[in-house]
Amino acid sequence: MIIIKTKNYEELSKKAADIIGSVVVLKPDAVLGLATGSTPVGTYKELIKGYEEGKLDFSKVKSVNLDEYKGLTGDHDQSYRYFMNTNLFNHVNIDKANTNVPSGIVEDGEAECERYNQLIKDLGGIDLQLLGIGGNAHIGFNEPCDEFVKGTHLVTLEEGTREANARFFASIDEVPTQAYTMGIQNIMSAKKILLLANGKAKAQAVYDTCFGPIKPQVPASILQLHEDCIVIADEDALSLCVEKGVL
Ligand code: F6R
Repeated sequence: MIIIKTKNYEELSKKAADIIGSVVVLKPDAVLGLATGSTPVGTYKELIKGYEEGKLDFSKVKSVNLDEYKGLTGDHDQSYRYFMNTNLFNHVNIDKANTNVPSGIVEDGEAECERYNQLIKDLGGIDLQLLGIGGNAHIGFNEPCDEFVKGTHLVTLEEGTREANARFFASIDEVPTQAYTMGIQNIMSAKKILLLANGKAKAQAVYDTCFGPIKPQVPASILQLHEDCIVIADEDALSLCVEKGVL
């Protein structure tokens, strides 16, 4: 695990976009595993800038997103499909047919999970998986639990996760209670992983993830076992690591 410390969110976003951009330059038909939430928004803005400046070409890129709320249609303004369209896909030359987000509304949830696992395999695996991290160290929506779940699955969101995400909805009652998420094996099979974290609210999760024991109660801690995992975090997110003298 390589840890890159940045002064602030802006520097974090630029560095993250540089790494993602380099993957796309080296492999124009790369499969990018993408994340939503507030953390990657700055990174997506930088990628859009790279495209506008003619440095990045997404025409052959394919993408698979980590997760989607159960019950939300793709045109719901809080669905992760909508998020991806508005924060990245609508602004670069990616072919939307090559972008994938789990469906939040299929009748047969189990079949959807199987379809998504197969899709990732059919694409030849993920070249780079971008991750944010929850305050409880979740990745995707793999919440702390007693075992790592391998494949795409339906998960019941922790109250803390729903509260954290309520800022995007009119009220907490509107935050879905369940979501589809890639599992830990889907994520760990990516050739390269890029985890981003900013702000004091992530300091404990970042410390536990990078320096604590590997256990499903701290889902992101499994990333310590990945051969090519880069963590980019700002000073606030790394503050506990510094306080504990491990960085
Ligand atoms: C989003 C996702 C989540 C978020 C995490 C952090 O696709 O999978 O794991 O990355 O909840 O969210 P933010 O960035 O909003 O703090």
